[in-house]
Amino acid sequence: MLAKTLELVTEARQHGVAVGAFNTYSLELTQAILGAAEQLKQPAILQLGVASVKTGGEPLVKATVLAAQNASVPVAVHLDHCADLDMIERCLAWGCASALADGSHLSFEENILLTRQAAALASSYGATIEAELGYLAGTEDGVTIEAIKASLTHPEQARTFVEATGASMLAVAIGNVHGFTPNPPPLDFELLSQIASQVDVPLILHGASGLGKESIQHAISLGVAKINVNTEVRTAFLTAIAAWGQRVGPTPDVRRRGQDWLDLMREATAAARAVVTEHMQT
Ligand code: 13P
Ligand code: ZN
Ligand code: NA
Repeated sequence: MLAKTLELVTEARQHGVAVGAFNTYSLELTQAILGAAEQLKQPAILQLGVASVKTGGEPLVKATVLAAQNASVPVAVHLDHCADLDMIERCLAWGCASALADGSHLSFEENILLTRQAAALASSYGATIEAELGYLAGTEDGVTIEAIKASLTHPEQARTFVEATGASMLAVAIGNVHGFTPNPPPLDFELLSQIASQVDVPLILHGASGLGKESIQHAISLGVAKINVNTEVRTAFLTAIAAWGQRVGPTPDVRRRGQDWLDLMREATAAARAVVTEHMQT
């Protein structure tokens, strides 16, 4: 059943847990995420990235919303990391319950302006905005500890920011990074508790791929109520496709009437679903 992001996140927080937010790129990944959620009888958030929305447009967004609607558990659809108000509005009109208005690379004042406009827009759709203050360092070589530190969320600024924007959820930068890093730097839990003491809205943790269960649980205990996972799930899907290609070879067997396609997608979907299940059990 179709749910609102903020309701899922608020309810999770009240129960001292977090809701898993997984990026999807296709119907198969959507099925992987929903299959895991339904089996575990847990709510979930399906997230679409800007590049996917640019490529898939209205059909992708509406198909994702329809899949959420048909699920046996509450599922919300969310637009991830978007700095484009027009795209945010299109996605809300197509059924997304929320968007991350990502002004994290803007100046503090410009970030406030973007986020405030997005929040006003969202409320006219009965939707809500996740905002981001501070930004996540990439995983490219050359990212220094100083660069990571300079980009962390500042607790008092976070309070001013949330009050000035009307954002309903806040993504924090506490040393978390996007992508899979085998030995990620430890999260700054002291900073997270300072942010939590300044800000009333639920906190969101991005970059959960590569983070250990203990780190994720610690973050949840300090007020994080939405955990974003992308790379690990996508990698499982793509790795299964690559393995299948190695095994089966590049030539489709025309006599199999599409069975090869279905076999491949079934294997890749199962691999992605296993990763989602593991995260949902954290
Ligand atoms: P990972 O790719 O590290 O899981 O990050 C996901 C994310 O933050 C999506 O917004
Ligand atoms: Zn993110
Ligand atoms: Na990560």
